[in-house]
Amino acid sequence: MVVRIVPVVVCFLTRCAIEGPLPGRIAGGLYSRMTMMVHKVLSALTRRGFLAGSAAAGAGALLSMRLAPAAKAAVREFNLRCGPDEVQLVPEEYGQTPVWCYNGSVPGPEIRVKQGERLRLTVENGLAEETTVHCHGIRLPNRMDGIPHLTQKPIGAGERFVYEFDAVDAGTFWYHPHQRSFEQVGRGLYGPLIIEEHEPVQVDRDITWVLDDWRLEPSAAISDDFGNLRDMSHNGRIGNSVTINGQVLETFPVRKGERIRLRLINAANARIFGLDFAAHEPIVIAFDGQPVTPHTPQGGFIVLGPAMRCDLIIDMTGEPGSRMEVIDRFYEGGEYRLTELVYGDTPLRDRVPDTPIALPANPLAEPDIAKAKRHEVVFNGGMMGGMMMRGMGPRMMRDMRDMMRSGKMWFINGVAAEGHVMEPLLTLARGESCILAMTNATAWHHPIHLHGHSFRVISRNGAPTQHREWQDTVLMAPREEVDIAFVADNPGDWMFHCHILEHQAAGMMGVMRVS
Ligand code: C2O
Ligand code: CU
Repeated sequence: MVVRIVPVVVCFLTRCAIEGPLPGRIAGGLYSRMTMMVHKVLSALTRRGFLAGSAAAGAGALLSMRLAPAAKAAVREFNLRCGPDEVQLVPEEYGQTPVWCYNGSVPGPEIRVKQGERLRLTVENGLAEETTVHCHGIRLPNRMDGIPHLTQKPIGAGERFVYEFDAVDAGTFWYHPHQRSFEQVGRGLYGPLIIEEHEPVQVDRDITWVLDDWRLEPSAAISDDFGNLRDMSHNGRIGNSVTINGQVLETFPVRKGERIRLRLINAANARIFGLDFAAHEPIVIAFDGQPVTPHTPQGGFIVLGPAMRCDLIIDMTGEPGSRMEVIDRFYEGGEYRLTELVYGDTPLRDRVPDTPIALPANPLAEPDIAKAKRHEVVFNGGMMGGMMMRGMGPRMMRDMRDMMRSGKMWFINGVAAEGHVMEPLLTLARGESCILAMTNATAWHHPIHLHGHSFRVISRNGAPTQHREWQDTVLMAPREEVDIAFVADNPGDWMFHCHILEHQAAGMMGVMRVS
């Protein structure tokens, strides 16, 4: 099955089969320690206290973001029920895949509102374990961020929780659990959250592609080796079957002359995508929901680390009846065909439209770079290649083995997180401009995500970036140095972590306090 679907990626499955998932005993040890953490810090607030408190927090907390007053905003209600189900990820002849998902589908329902509206999201937990919902990239009040024990008591099996917040920024966002994400997201719990501009750019079709990468057994069942030490210490859980909106998509119909806004969301645990649209010239208009000066991507393909989003304008310039492959080229030697654009026989129009494609800015506070406070952040850990191990003495090798046995493999400024409640990595004064000077001292890529804020990526390896793009998740290459800048204007304790979910679970997470 796998060979037919994603021919080149099959090597990943083979490799797993050879090296094998690590014994359940080890993974089990990590799980139970995480569960212990879950019980270690209990919020004094009752659930009712949270619900009552949420309205007040929602009304006042984001004033610094120049919001329209909450009172005027229309409230849009959505219900999400997470639980086990079966869906058709792979072509029918291979059978259905048991998943965990929202409202019976993968991805979960597309939540779509207009900028300035207020969302009320009632989540019902039909899983046999605790969960939360985190709306990734949305600048919302801290209590609505969905962080187990830090911002809320996790939603127990059979329980409900109501998230309510204003849609401050227009853009492409998504939602997913923040409880044992490496397994809950990995089994299919995620969905798109689209906030429309008041005046969107004019296109023929506005399409969302939620990308995911699954490690499937030949039976189409999800391989249950979640959280094994190999994935955790290397590049995370890379799978063998890639889906677009929950389906292995052989073809995607288009028409000549058509202008498409394509919203890409990477919901994979660990796979980084590098999409090549053949002869088309996609123009990037937003990263992580935030508008960017329209530009063609460097190197010609769109790179998306886990959790990252990108809005593209693609003009369909092919001839009627032609076919063009979309290739994922991120991993050298691991290229495969994601899907194929198939042109219909009749053009929509003869030439592509030339209406403007730049998006209106969101109400983000501009960091004052000259006055910004600079904080060093260093990422360490993970398996290192033979070359780098060579310099290590036996003592260091022993220490590394010990830390790996305890499930901690990744560090931010020397600390590996256990659970979500911890001493803040940094405390930032509310309203202050700050620069995080980040160094990836590891041999791996990491998509680094900050909650509650968007930041400008101002430099890479000391060179200023061309677009100073706003992002909420920035992909750092091995050894790369990246400076980001933002105004710490959203009070609370915010998670700051790698979005390769195995890295996050194995320690690559910290808390940024804005007070
Ligand atoms: Cu997409 Cu901390 O999360
Ligand atoms: Cu990472």
